[in-house]
Amino acid sequence: MLNYWRIAAVALITTASALFTDVETGRQPELHLSNLVKHQSPPNPIAFRLPPALDSCYDAAWDPTPANWFLGTWYFIYSNSLIYQLFQDMQWTLSPTETTPLDGTLQDLTTEFSLNETSFVFENYGIDTPTVKDGKLIPDSYFYVPTGPLAFANNTWEVIAWGYDSNGVPYSVVYETPADAGLVGPSLDIISRDDNGPSKPTLDAIHEGIKGLHNDQLDKLLASEVKLKQNGGRNGQRYPSCNATCVTNAYAYGVALGTGA
Ligand SMILES: *[C@@H]1O[C@H](CO)[C@@H](O)[C@H](O)[C@H]1NC(C)=O
Ligand SMILES: *[C@@H]1O[C@H](CO)[C@@H](O)[C@H](O)[C@H]1NC(C)=O
Ligand SMILES: *[C@@H]1O[C@H](CO)[C@@H](O)[C@H](O)[C@H]1NC(C)=O
Repeated sequence: MLNYWRIAAVALITTASALFTDVETGRQPELHLSNLVKHQSPPNPIAFRLPPALDSCYDAAWDPTPANWFLGTWYFIYSNSLIYQLFQDMQWTLSPTETTPLDGTLQDLTTEFSLNETSFVFENYGIDTPTVKDGKLIPDSYFYVPTGPLAFANNTWEVIAWGYDSNGVPYSVVYETPADAGLVGPSLDIISRDDNGPSKPTLDAIHEGIKGLHNDQLDKLLASEVKLKQNGGRNGQRYPSCNATCVTNAYAYGVALGTGA
């Protein structure tokens, strides 16, 4: 409890500047106002939902993530994605697009080193649009469309659980629909605001929660999940942001397309 109030006080001071000015430390749980003790597990059970993409009568009882809770940088900790397993120190940075009027769209930037090369940060950029199904907005579900040459690799991502681990650090479990017209299969990702990932008791609860959904597809994804490499290799660098060249996905392949680099 005390811990939460301390984190909340720090958050008030740092939230505005934390996104793009601070350097990487491997942790940024302070991005969150932590009034959400009931979402800490353990001691509380984790509320899971089936991914709405897999569930024709998706759960309207879902407790959505609080406004802005999901923005900022997350570390990818576990995934069954074979693509993600080719990289290390992978991060995911979300920020609002500056559209007027505000329409809920997000800028979506994934950044990572390849496994064998740490002098170049791959940058993958796209726009997330909130999912609407049968005229209804589905909370915490987005259609991702990468810009330029990568638009074919679009998919939908959906939060299926979120909260704080037993240390008070935010985590989320995300389901991704297949991408690249089905060439890349669906994935189940566990992400955290700490590059060590969720604490062991919370990770155990996450695994139990996924199994508790009794969904064959999710069980299969969970069974093939591996720990992604996070070794602090990007510590000391600036938190990721995407400049005018990056937003064209010029840095998505490890070379700058069209710049001769
Ligand atoms: C890294 O690995 C990729 C694929 O395995 C290979 O194509 C590339 O040449 C390697 N790069 C270096 C710098 O070794
Ligand atoms: C999404 O990807 C599919 C398959 O690659 C492609 O046919 C479609 O045009 C893409 N959608 C957008 C909005 O780019
Ligand atoms: C844009 O970002 C890339 C990669 O982070 C960097 O190499 C490049 O110098 C930047 N370009 C400008 C104009 O700042």
